[in-house]
Amino acid sequence: MTTASGQHFDVADLALADAGQARIDWADRHMPVLESIRDRFARERPLEGIQLGLCLHVTTETANLVRALTAGGADVALCASNPLSTQDDVAAALVDRYGVEVYAINGEGDESYYSHINAVCDKHPKITMDDGADVIGVLHSERTAQLSEVIGGTEETTTGVIRLKALEAEGRLGFPIIAVNEANTKHLFDNRYGTGQSTMDGIIRATNILIAGKRVVVVGYGWCGRGVAMRAKGLGAHVIVCEVDPLHALEAVMDGFEVMPGIEAARTGDLFITVTGDLHAIGAEHFKVMKDGAIVANSGHFNVEIDIPALAEMSDRRREARPFVEGFHTKDGREIFLLGEGRLINLAAAEGHPAAVMDMSFANQALSAEHMAKHASELEKKVYVVPEEIDKEIARLKLETMGVEIDALSEEQKRYLTSWDQGT
Ligand SMILES: NC(=O)c1ccc[n+]([C@@H]2O[C@H](COP(=O)([O-])OP(=O)(O)OC[C@H]3O[C@@H](n4cnc5c(N)ncnc54)[C@H](O)[C@@H]3O)[C@@H](O)[C@H]2O)c1
Repeated sequence: MTTASGQHFDVADLALADAGQARIDWADRHMPVLESIRDRFARERPLEGIQLGLCLHVTTETANLVRALTAGGADVALCASNPLSTQDDVAAALVDRYGVEVYAINGEGDESYYSHINAVCDKHPKITMDDGADVIGVLHSERTAQLSEVIGGTEETTTGVIRLKALEAEGRLGFPIIAVNEANTKHLFDNRYGTGQSTMDGIIRATNILIAGKRVVVVGYGWCGRGVAMRAKGLGAHVIVCEVDPLHALEAVMDGFEVMPGIEAARTGDLFITVTGDLHAIGAEHFKVMKDGAIVANSGHFNVEIDIPALAEMSDRRREARPFVEGFHTKDGREIFLLGEGRLINLAAAEGHPAAVMDMSFANQALSAEHMAKHASELEKKVYVVPEEIDKEIARLKLETMGVEIDALSEEQKRYLTSWDQGT
């Protein structure tokens, strides 16, 4: 579709723009770091005339990132990084109120999803911004002629970074990437506190079950898993952790959780949550021994963590028990419930991370885009971590906006901490 001014878009319903605007404004109140960046960008215009190709969850927080980028002078085209996470009212407001080219419709099928990614690529982005590396994936597979036009990209999540490091290792990465996920002000807060809270929120909204007293199995004890386990425990669950990494498993034990192999946990769990970034973290062998009524959800990036085809194969019928809850009747007479089609449950059934957490993640995105615009020519075709000064600046701004003051090292302390010859 095209507006009178020639702006292309494909969203569900432009009439939702008022509702979207109100929610974008609400999120903005909780994103003071991004607001201060937006104000500076409006003065300095560091992204003047640069075409950005964004593939992010189309949420209120993303809308405020887009506002910061356009304040900086960028031309933005946006598509969804997950077919179920688009907030249609936000997509409408971005088109109608901010003149952004948005291609995203909640619940769209694979064909529409990929045609929207291609619509963003059709804009010939100079900088890409991904959450799961889908735009970069299309540029590196179907549209390689465009690779030389891109000066650099950023990547939001763990799973995307894994894919990009694999491309780099094969010597096939077409342009430099800043891995926003690797910033401390991203994964320490977004993955842990954001995913922790919003995953439990999504599960509760979808099911309305009482978490207290349940045996909750968290598969994967990385940044997200730590947060999910912590919040489930806080709600009164008996939390069991499954891991493949001995260090993370040991940490879970020391944090007070029961740790056991997946197959043992499968027999005893009431609610299962995968956050591994891995394939088939829950598979046929687990489904075979699960209790009748077990609930299975995923909060890892892709809907591959739960082997849904294996569950379907073991079942003779399926039914929608309630929105976002699908019951699989197994041939041996049990019913296992899958939430949100196995997609990120915090985005499918809830609203994703709270704005206050995305404030820092997206401040990293905005400042990384600025860094890329200024320094891309000095970078190699590699995956870079966010420069430390950006990470520290975001933490400083966040503390400032929270009204929290901290101490500074004295000159004597600085000398002591950088010397080798001063001791006891
Ligand atoms: N839901 C969200 O909003 C959200 C937010 C951030 C990240 N993510 C996604 O969540 C996933 C996890 O991210 P993270 O930052 O915690 O990653 P991480 O690398 O810190 O942790 C993943 C953990 O899973 C473990 N693991 C891998 N395969 C396993 C298996 N088969 N069984 C048990 N454990 C296994 C790893 O050892 C590791 O400890 C990624 O896909 C990431 O993209 C989702």
